[in-house]
Amino acid sequence: MVPQYIFSIVEDDLNILNKNLQSMVGARHPILNAASEHLFSAGGKRLRPALVILVAGYTLKNQTITPEHRRLAEITEIIHTASLVHDDVIDECITRRGVTTVHSMFNNKVAVLAGDFLFAQSSWYLANLNNLNVVKTISKVITDFAEGEVRQGLVQFDLSISMNEYTEKSFYKTASLIAASCQGSSMLSQLDKDLQDRYYLYGKHIGLAFQIIDDILDIVGSKKNLGKPVGSDLKNGNLTAPVLFAINDSPQLQEYIEHEFENEVDISEALNIICRGQGLKKAKDLAEEHIQTALNILPSSVSSSNDKHLYALVLVGQYILQQIN
Ligand code: IPE
Ligand code: IPE
Ligand code: MG
Ligand code: MG
Repeated sequence: MVPQYIFSIVEDDLNILNKNLQSMVGARHPILNAASEHLFSAGGKRLRPALVILVAGYTLKNQTITPEHRRLAEITEIIHTASLVHDDVIDECITRRGVTTVHSMFNNKVAVLAGDFLFAQSSWYLANLNNLNVVKTISKVITDFAEGEVRQGLVQFDLSISMNEYTEKSFYKTASLIAASCQGSSMLSQLDKDLQDRYYLYGKHIGLAFQIIDDILDIVGSKKNLGKPVGSDLKNGNLTAPVLFAINDSPQLQEYIEHEFENEVDISEALNIICRGQGLKKAKDLAEEHIQTALNILPSSVSSSNDKHLYALVLVGQYILQQIN
């Protein structure tokens, strides 16, 4: 019910977005064209553009969404998709959005270039918004991705990583884009600076919760529902929230990780330990805390009858949690 509501009120906008994306990522070279179009046509939830449109709908007080807001929504989805193309090279992931990843279909070189191409296209469209503050806010996100991926790569199988470091890494990889997208949309609506900052914080905490739930799904989810393989974080030594909580209670789990799952059964044993313990529950609690923080930033006492866009922004929290229920 919840996802249908959120996405149904922006359905027409997302249809326009999908059509525009196809033409925006057109490249002169057929390989870049094929590679970049591949993931767009495969779908994806379109959460980031939906957030841009919802913030626009609320902050414009139900006036028509402007072409600039639409363009920002498109830019956020292009940046997100570019980051996925690169992330899948790093994580050696072979399926995404239910289809073969770009690097598996072509090769790593093409995937790196296709990701670069998408980042570059997004920058060009961003510059053409002619709004320097939005350019500054959104372009920082691309640097943050690189920082997040590098930070993650440096601490693989590292049992000394703290929850704080995990959260910072998740900010760079995931929350930064969602925060900047929400803030950028409020900037285009010409809100005051302090209100813009609130949308940034809303997006940041929604983004952190979203990454924690994605990390839980990597342990309890199914490839069929997610359109990407599960269990790869642990295999790659990415110690996510549920794992970090679980290792405190299990020396055996620590040992498996320390030895980088040297025996074939170690990874499934490790997953069993995590599923039996409190790590998943504690991680879910942490995601709920971030959602609560995000919701506290929004105006209170809202219902679908007084503002459907604001109501949907509130429901985004439930939507995120619903993925694991
Ligand atoms: C996947 O994002 C990467 C993360 C930040 C966890 P999404 O789950 O939004 O991916 P798509 O766009 O729906 O494919
Ligand atoms: C988020 O991290 C990916 C990006 C923000 C690029 P993950 O590595 O967990 O994302 P998935 O699980 O591959 O979608
Ligand atoms: Mg990944
Ligand atoms: Mg993941």
